[in-house]
Amino acid sequence: MKPKVYVTRKIDDEIVARLEAAADVAMWPEADVPVPREVLEREIRDADGLYCLLTDTIDEALMAKAERLRIIANMAVGYNNIDVAAATSRGIQVTNTPGVLTETTADLTFALLMATARRIVEASDYLRRGDWVTWSPMLLTGQDVYGATLGIIGLGRIGEALARRAKAFDMKVLYCNRTRKPQAEERFGLTYADKDDLLRQSDFVCVLVPYTPDTRGLIGERELALMKPTSVLINTSRGGIVDESALYRALKSGAIWAAGLDVFEREPIGADHPLLTLPNVVALPHIGSASVRTRMRMGHMAADNLLQALAGGTPPNLVNVPG
Ligand code: DGY
Repeated sequence: MKPKVYVTRKIDDEIVARLEAAADVAMWPEADVPVPREVLEREIRDADGLYCLLTDTIDEALMAKAERLRIIANMAVGYNNIDVAAATSRGIQVTNTPGVLTETTADLTFALLMATARRIVEASDYLRRGDWVTWSPMLLTGQDVYGATLGIIGLGRIGEALARRAKAFDMKVLYCNRTRKPQAEERFGLTYADKDDLLRQSDFVCVLVPYTPDTRGLIGERELALMKPTSVLINTSRGGIVDESALYRALKSGAIWAAGLDVFEREPIGADHPLLTLPNVVALPHIGSASVRTRMRMGHMAADNLLQALAGGTPPNLVNVPG
């Protein structure tokens, strides 16, 4: 008998075909609507493998319903949607999709930085509204990127890829990280700083740490108050790392100049979200890794992990060591 795999979203046919070669596959049929919890609870009961997305909460209560689950393959590098400790204690492997999305996410992070600094969205809206009367000296003036100081909070793969881009813009790059990285410092000309110094000195602060209990609220009122009034905050990691109420106040009062956000505390946000009322916010719907090629690579990587686990092997991107 083939194992059963449940896929929580409609994914590409090519990937489904690969899964079907090894398993009986059941899949939530919608591409743009997450699987309802009650459906997931029903389907997980007899599933041997789960192929899921960052929008699915895979918690202890859900795992308790699973009688045969061996592998949870998340189609994302971040896996804060999964209770990994609960999976580990139940002997369930958990995997993610690192590496393949690094450059694409760094591209988006830099694009968001540029768009926010140079008010690209605001300027485009201004023109489309028919407000453009004349060229004028200070119309829609932004902040220079070239030669500015970038502070990267979290120098993982994406942080390093961002630093490389920044160097091409002749930026001075500061970073803070749990561990110091002398090789990266030498290779890319980076300067290590503690978080407060980085916040004080940077013209652009990019948050690129994973979401964990330790990084929740990492950028709050105190941290925003340390930043320059001309500075720009960019977050392309996870929403809860930046305190949104504190950010709103900092942007409104002019404590910082602007923010570019690809992620939010509770996604999706509606058009009535307070941050969207501010002209100095550029907001995107969590599209950091959204290129066709990268999303396909992530999809296949999650399938590789899942198939390897079902075959009894150790998946290449295991994030836990189940007992
Ligand atoms: C991830 O993979 O964690 C991103 O947030 C989506 O690509």
